[in-house]
Order: sequence, then C-alpha cells, then structure tokens
Amino acid sequence: MIKFITETVDYLKDKGFYKPEVGIILGTGLGQLINSVEVLKEVSYNHIPNFPTATVEFHRGKLVYGNLAGKKVIIMQGRFHVYEGYTLQDVTYPVRIMQQLGIHTLLVSNAAGAINLDFKKGELMLIDDHINLQGSSPLAVKGIEQMGERFVDMSAPYDALINASFKNIAKTHNIKLHKGVYASVVGPQLETRAEYRMLKIIGADAVGMSTVPEVIVANHLKLKVAAVSVLTDECDPDNLEPVNIEEIIAMAAKAEPDMVTLFKAVIETL
Ligand code: HPA
Repeated sequence: MIKFITETVDYLKDKGFYKPEVGIILGTGLGQLINSVEVLKEVSYNHIPNFPTATVEFHRGKLVYGNLAGKKVIIMQGRFHVYEGYTLQDVTYPVRIMQQLGIHTLLVSNAAGAINLDFKKGELMLIDDHINLQGSSPLAVKGIEQMGERFVDMSAPYDALINASFKNIAKTHNIKLHKGVYASVVGPQLETRAEYRMLKIIGADAVGMSTVPEVIVANHLKLKVAAVSVLTDECDPDNLEPVNIEEIIAMAAKAEPDMVTLFKAVIETL
C-alpha cells in the first residue's frame, strides 16, 4: 500500500496540490460548500493513479484543491461507500492521501436518519462519538503496523476543541446543532423496524452508511477530526413510513445553507 500511496501523492503534488491544511469530505447536504471555494486545481478521481475506481463503474467524483476561509483545503467531492462494492481500504484510501499531502484536520459531512426522536428531519447533528456496525475495520489488514499503530486509541475520535467551535458558531448563527452518537451500517438497504429499535437500545442517535471508516483511518493517522450529519428522516419504528429517497435528498438540501455557514466559520478558526 505504501508504494501505491507514494505514487498517488507524487501525482497530486505534480498537479499542484501543494500542502493543504484541511481535508473535507463533502457528503449529501454539503455539496454547495464548493461554491465558496476559490478552486486552484481539480482532478477527476478517474485520472488519479491508484484511486479506487477500477472495480466499479465510472465514478463522478473529483478531488479539489483551493482556498476556503483563509485556509488551503483539499475537498473530496463525492466519497466511496462500502455499499457500492468498495472495500474499507478503498473507502479510506483518499484519507491517507490527504494526510500525506499535509492536512492536519479532516472535516466530514453526511446524511443520516434520526434514531433519537427528539431530533427532527432537516436538523443537524454534530457527531460526538460513533458505533461501527460495518462488520470490519479499515485497519484489519496485513502490514498496518508499518503505517501507524495497530491498536488505535478510540477514546476520543472527534476533536473536542473543534466540536466546541462548531457548537459556539452554531449558537452565534442561531443554527440548531444537536450532538450525538452516529452508527454506521453498510446499507444500501435502509433499516427494518427491529433494526431501528436495536440502534436506539445500543445508544445511537443517528444512523448512516458512511464516515466511520474514514474517521477510523484519520485517527490511525493522528489527524484532528470533526463530522456533522444532516438528519434527513425520522426513524420511528412504531410509525415507520416507507423510505422516500427524494424526500431524503430534499431534506439534505434544506439544511445545506446552515451546513455551509457552519463549515466555513469553523474552518476559519482552524
Ligand atoms: N438509515 C441509514 N442511512 C441513512 C438513513 C437511514 O435511515 N437516512 C439517511 N441515511
């Protein structure tokens, strides 16, 4: 893996991805952040050597480098999911690349279902902790100890200071920002009523199909991490309605201006 990483990093350095400070993974509900970026360089994932595209059909994502809120940022426009057929190592490969290019902080966004029924769709949740339900770890590979520790500490995977900034900035801008536990499942099917009940019992406030693998690897690499979920649906097992993907996307879009405001203001403080 180290040889592959070096090849990818050399390619991006050649393309002018020079010492980014902050990495951002744009999930559903934060895509518009790109409109605030002074884009200096961008490369389609399909053109980046060793990027995880070979096994799956054409991937529309791209890697963007530029200025945002006074910082040099590298942005993943589009992420990889296990439910698309990628491995956990594929999904997290770009995090290793961004770290090698120089980032010290990784910010992540996603869409999630609200398990905690005090939280409503269209609202935001700062991820305070997580539960990995994807069945494996991106670190469960031979030779991982050559790239960092094997037994990575997970006592505080999300940075307390950045989370405090998120909270303060949300308050200043009158944005409702809950704080909670995010459980990651593989998907792509949504959960059954019994699964939603289980998620509540084990302590999840929200559930989604991403983020945790990237956060585990970011911790492996000792990056500072923060992540925010847009809550797109309410997962009430006793009144469960059939999933409506259009509504999920519409809810994510509704929360997007608040997400963009939060991320820009937090990046300024980093
Ligand atoms: N479950 C899993 N992933 C999701 C959900 C959900 O209810 N909503 C948005 N992403």
